[in-house]
Amino acid sequence: MREPRDSTHLVKIEQAARILRDGHVVAMPTETVYGLAGDAARDDAVLEIFETKARPRFNPLIVHCADLEMVQRLALFPKLAQKLADQFWPGPLTMVLPKRADAPVSDLVTAGLDTIAIRMPKHHLARELIAAAGFPVAAPSANPSGKLSPTTAQHVLDGFEGRVPVVDGGPAEEGVESTIVAVSDDQLVLLRPGTIARAQLVEATNVPVLDPQDKTIKAPGMLLSHYAPNAAVRLNAVDCHDGEAALNFGASGLESKHATLNLSPNGDLAEAARNLFSLLRQADQQGVHTIAVAPIPADGLGEAINDRLRRAAADRN
Ligand code: TXA
Ligand code: MG
Repeated sequence: MREPRDSTHLVKIEQAARILRDGHVVAMPTETVYGLAGDAARDDAVLEIFETKARPRFNPLIVHCADLEMVQRLALFPKLAQKLADQFWPGPLTMVLPKRADAPVSDLVTAGLDTIAIRMPKHHLARELIAAAGFPVAAPSANPSGKLSPTTAQHVLDGFEGRVPVVDGGPAEEGVESTIVAVSDDQLVLLRPGTIARAQLVEATNVPVLDPQDKTIKAPGMLLSHYAPNAAVRLNAVDCHDGEAALNFGASGLESKHATLNLSPNGDLAEAARNLFSLLRQADQQGVHTIAVAPIPADGLGEAINDRLRRAAADRN
């Protein structure tokens, strides 16, 4: 039985678990960004995720699990996956693995692929919610498709205009999405750079970390225009033009009449990641036509930050 959809406001874990069991969606905090969660096994719940976000159906979802037992009911687990799990789970790593034929997961979750993307979040409220519900939840970022990812409960309320109940876990600790890797027996393919840096993957596994060969497969969230503010975004800016907001990094020194913001005055990439989506929103709220962004180093977490910025800057047509 599916009770009618409840609306709005902040909810506690017990109520959120009930909403999930009723086959509806609820937004939950994770250490990366807020996720829009629904029962991964139910078509109606997963459909509600796609409809709430206005997300194209061909773009598959990440399934979030509370423990390895849950994971192993869904996917085959090569040795290399075990190694990554030992090192990075719970945490901001998503593994794309061969899906079990009998996996209790709606086909809508995987968009018909024979692989499944799985992650075990670290945020205690996400873990408690999944455990309380008793089943894995599908959860894309809790933003309307193509918009900036949410790193606070307020971002979620704003994005869906109060139509989605939210578990408030405070500001996200990491601020950019999980790293996504496709895992096989002896190599990794980095489908989306994220919180866990490429070098950490190499160090933990000693196998090559490749880039996707076929740029058309990849993680479909890699649609080029994604994470878009309303304003245009101009990258690697060395000065700030009239009518632009300025987003600095370290000592970059861009100055704007509208908003002069800094991702990390000390030039710390982890801090910049944490602030990225919030400050893009803040700059956007000034109503400027363009946000000028200073250069950000490309190493470590900088790979994920630059990836998100390139997508925010991409042509929207
Ligand atoms: O940090 C995160 O990963 C957040 C939090 C909520 O966990 N979630 C998130 O989900 O970023 P979403 O839906 O915004 O991005 C999921 C990405 C998409 O690019 C999707 O195409 C990709 O994962 N994906 C899902 N299943 C896949 C599969 N079987 N093969 C390749 N890519 C897949
Ligand atoms: Mg997303």
